[in-house]
Parts: sequence; C-alpha cells; structure tokens
Amino acid sequence: MRRIGYPPELQAKTARALERLEYATARPGELSAAVKRLSDFYIANPAGSTPWGERWAQAAYLAYFLPLNFARASAVAREGLRAGFFSGLESMIDFGSGPGTAQLALARAGLAFRTVLCVDQREEPLTLHQALAGPGTGLTWRTSLPTAALPSRETRLAVFSYVATELDRLPSWAAESEAILLIEPSTREDGRRLLERRRALLEMGFHAYAPCTHQGACPLLEKSGKDWCHDRIAWDPPPGWGALESGLPMKNRTLTFSYLLARRTPPAASTAPRRARVIGDPRAEKGKTRQLLCRGPEREFLAWFPRRLSAEPALDRGDLVELGAGVEIRANEVRLKDPGTELQLLTPEEM
Ligand SMILES: C[S@@+](CC[C@H](N)C(=O)[O-])C[C@H]1O[C@@H](n2cnc3c(N)ncnc32)[C@H](O)[C@@H]1O
Repeated sequence: MRRIGYPPELQAKTARALERLEYATARPGELSAAVKRLSDFYIANPAGSTPWGERWAQAAYLAYFLPLNFARASAVAREGLRAGFFSGLESMIDFGSGPGTAQLALARAGLAFRTVLCVDQREEPLTLHQALAGPGTGLTWRTSLPTAALPSRETRLAVFSYVATELDRLPSWAAESEAILLIEPSTREDGRRLLERRRALLEMGFHAYAPCTHQGACPLLEKSGKDWCHDRIAWDPPPGWGALESGLPMKNRTLTFSYLLARRTPPAASTAPRRARVIGDPRAEKGKTRQLLCRGPEREFLAWFPRRLSAEPALDRGDLVELGAGVEIRANEVRLKDPGTELQLLTPEEM
C-alpha cells in the first residue's frame, strides 16, 4: 500500500506554530481535547465553517487535520503526476486553503506554478499558512477572489481540498478553469456528490484524469444506488502522534478520501479498457474472491479462485493496474487464471 507521512521540516514548523498558540506538542492531552472538540464540531455541523477565531480550533487543525489532509493531498498529487494532469498548468488557486494544506503538499511533490493564490475567507488560517510556508515562496494570500485577480483560465488549476462541504456550490470561475482538483471526505454522501460533480464536469467538456481511467459514465453512480469511489493510503505518523491519538476515540492506521482530477484538455492517450483502477477491497465468497475494478461504464470485478492459484493478487484500493490482452471476461468479471502474466501493478515509475 502507498505510505505517506508528514515531512520533518513541516513537523518542526507546525510545532513552532503550536507553541505560539500556547499548545505544546509536549502536552498531548490538551491537544487531544482540542482535536476531539473540533472533530465533534464538524460532526455536529457538517456544512459549518471551521471556527478559526478560536485558539483551540487553530491548534487542533494544525496538530491533526493538517497532517492528515496533507498526506491525502500528497497522494492525489502523485496520482496527478503519473496521469500527466499538471502538464502545462501555470497558475494554481487553492480555494478554502486553510493553513495551506494542498499548496504545501503540491509544492512538496515538486510542483511549481508561476502564480499561486491561496484564498480563505478567514485571516487566521492564512496567517498560519504564511508561517508554515516561510519567506520568499512567491505565494499570494487573499480573503476574497475578485474576478480581476483571476489568472488566465487557459493554464489555471482550481484546487478545492476538503472545502466543497463548506460551499453551497463551486464558484463559477472554477468550472471556467482548465483544470480542477477536488478532494473530499470519503463518506458515502460526499463521495456520491463528487461522482455527480464528475458527471456535470464531463457534460461541460471536462475529461477525467484520475482516479478514473476512462471518460464514460461512472459505474458506481449509474449502476449502484449506494456505492461511492474512495481511495486509501497507509499513514506514516510523525513522532508524538501516538500520544495525541491515545486521547482520541478515532485512530488512523490508514487514511481514506475521495478525489477527482479533471481537465478541459483530454489526456494524451486513452488507456481504457486495459488500464483499470482498483476501487474496492477483496471479498471472499464461496471459493471465489472478487474485487471491484473500474475501467469503463460497467460495474466490474476482478475475480479469481484462490485454490486454483499458486499466488493470489495482492491489490489495494486505489491501485492502478494494466490487464493482459488475453484476460478472460465472464459477465461482470475479469477472471484471473494466472495473475503473474495477466495483471501488472503500475507504480509511478512505470507510467
Ligand atoms: C475544512 S477547511 C479545509 C482547509 C484545507 N483546504 C485543507 O485541505 O486542510 C475548509 C476551509 O474553507 C474555508 N472556506 C469556507 N467557505 C469559504 C469561502 N466561501 N471562501 C473562502 N474560503 C472558504 C474555511 O475558512 C476553511 O479554512
């Protein structure tokens, strides 16, 4: 499984920002209480805005939600890089940027833009972001985005990380952009809303780069009333995380999220139906194992009989695979007889 952590230089800057808020990482009990309080706030107010005016909320976000969302955004950046999603993009608007979670992750993934606008309705997270980014970054921070401040739409990337839930709808300039990157919580409700947003974007002339490997209808939206698409990565926690988490009811061994990368320019080459995304966990059923797979508008499964194989495929949700030309298709199943030759796991280096 892909593993992602929180880099040491950000750990150090985050610890200093927490000290300034009088929340030392050396006193994890106080931080845990703040995290629990903010988590409870989000649960009670799913569409509510982060209460940035509160010192405890700033500390909770920095200590907990920032590292977790940074890892999620880093995973999305990696998928974007291997799909060629960022090619030719010159400006980025991180809307609802908070403490800069997505901007920091994209920069860390090696992505550079001529113009980077970080927009949040509240001053407090922008100030936190400035401290985390450090001097000389060339970033611009704003509490609003007037039309005159928008960079050219032809090379513009619009980023929304964990913000769509706080917005009634995406701003109109987003759909006029060349590229959109959306990251959402992995709940069924948020995930299905993202699939509907994918459908709307495709109707507007966008093309899906990831997680989708095709431009057809989404099988989870159109062929199921309850499925939703989400990814999972392994979380490499920073030092001190165990102490913070020991005071919390929720534990993060792995991180889940839903995301979509879409551009007006079509992908360089159509990769469907040979290239496919693993979108489920393996399920054993009466001598057979099935795992949801996406490569087109049909809701399909990779399927194999474990007793007939010397080695079973070991695929994680979110993996990208290439199917061999001779693979057997039976109804909604892609049947594997020899996974070693019929299936190739694509790592970023092989893209
Ligand atoms: C849950 S936080 C996400 C922060 C960051 N993008 C991340 O991934 O961690 C949502 C952010 O969106 C901001 N926000 C909500 N509505 C907004 C709006 N209409 N304009 C600008 N920012 C907004 C909030 O202030 C908050 O900082």
